[in-house]
Order: sequence, then structure tokens, then C-alpha cells
Amino acid sequence: MTISTAQILAKKNKEKILCLTAYTYPMAKILDEFCDIILVGDSLGMTIYGMSDTVDVTLDMMINHGKAVMKAAKKSFVVIDMPCGTYEKSKEQALETAQKIMRQTNCHAVKFEVTPQLIETIKFLTAHKINVMGHVGLLPQHVREIGGYRYQGKDENSANEILETSKAIEKAGAFALVIEAVPASLATKISSEIKIPTIGIGASAECDGQVLVIDDLLGLNQDFKPKFVTYYEDLAGKISAAVKNFRDDVKSKKFPTKDNLR
Ligand code: KIV
Repeated sequence: MTISTAQILAKKNKEKILCLTAYTYPMAKILDEFCDIILVGDSLGMTIYGMSDTVDVTLDMMINHGKAVMKAAKKSFVVIDMPCGTYEKSKEQALETAQKIMRQTNCHAVKFEVTPQLIETIKFLTAHKINVMGHVGLLPQHVREIGGYRYQGKDENSANEILETSKAIEKAGAFALVIEAVPASLATKISSEIKIPTIGIGASAECDGQVLVIDDLLGLNQDFKPKFVTYYEDLAGKISAAVKNFRDDVKSKKFPTKDNLR
């Protein structure tokens, strides 16, 4: 049975919450055993589509990958990112997008990047029974305005703004909050001052859970390694070695073997 928002909430201060991104059926099938939350992140713009950021990710991409992940997820709570340009204009636009994502994929919640102007949108969506996960700190959909993937909340003013936005997100009814790329002290403070679970990425070990992009955890694309990533595997190296072996076997006619043929 799928884990509920109440069960996710109950883990705060008791047990760390595990969240990873997945974009495809086979990956979600593997991760489902281990994750509390699977995030169909708009990071798929980079990991799947080779884009340089998430700004041009479309709603169709999110829905299609969301459908694939939902086919495999049996117990994990599945959250789908609302892509850039599909929720910021008005709360009605956000509701239409969230309902479309939920109706077409059957996922359990949506996530979006929250600026103070979007607090009313969270209230509106939760009033319409949409589970909302907020996202503060580094907001990748704003990367072109802020001029790169930089840590946020480094001075007192911006740290206070992120803290106040986080409190407002909780009050507006979100069930959880992603905190990305802020100083550990700020993420720890937010985690202790709000009652909903915080899920950190480049934030603090004191967050209630952690999220990583699965491709980063597996070392699948090693072109750029953010400070907050640890490669738990060198999958790029392993794939290269396997494909090289295959190439050598094809060239030397070792593949296909007798066992592969009728
Ligand atoms: O899109 C994504 O993968 C995310 C995580 C990095 C939190 O938003």
C-alpha cells in the first residue's frame, strides 16, 4: 500500500525520510523498495533530455514520465514537479496544471518552487485537496535570473526571507518542504521551526529527509558534480566497460553465442 502524507508527517523527528528522483519505469521499480517518496523532478530536463537547465521542460514531459513512474511505484508516495511557466501566473493556472498532472498520472502530490508571491497558490491548491510539496532555497527554475546554481540564504536578509517563506508554506497547508542549497545552519533552523518534514538537498543532515537526483547518486553523468553529491556508484564507467566488451565480442564474432541462437 502507498505510504500516506500522515505517515510521512509522522516520521518527523523519528525516522529519516528517503526521497530520490526517478523518471522511468525500470528505475522507479528498483527505487520503490527503498524510497518513501519518489520525485519525478523537472531535473529530467538535464538527465533525460540533455537540456542545460529546467526552464524549458514541458508539462507533457512531466506527465509522460509521471505515468511511467506511477506504473512501477507500488508503495512509494509519488510527487511530480510542476514545470516552469505552468503555475506562476495565477492560482487558477496552478490549479488547472496540478489537476491535469494528477488526473493524467494518478500521482499523489505536486511540487513547485515557492517565492513569497506563491503562498496564496499553495492555500488555493490545498483547499482543492491537492497535496503540495514546497521547494525553497536554490530555485533551479530561476537559474537564468540568478546567474547560476548558487547557494542561497548566505546573508541575514535572504536567510530570514527563506525562513519566513518556509513558515508561510507550512501555514498554507503544504505537507512537506524541499530545501535546496542553503547553509546547513539555516536548513537546521527551518527544520526545527516548522512541523512539516523538510527534505534536504545540499542543506543539512538535520533535515527530516534527504533527496538526490538518482543519476547523481549513481554517477551516471559525471560532467558536473555539485558539492552536495556523493557518487555511490560509477555507473557511467560500468556502462562504458560493458559496451566496450559488447563491441569487442561483436567484432570478434563472440556475440551472439550459440546459446543466443536457435
Ligand atoms: O527536479 C528535481 O530533481 C528536484 C530535486 C533536485 C529536489 O527538484
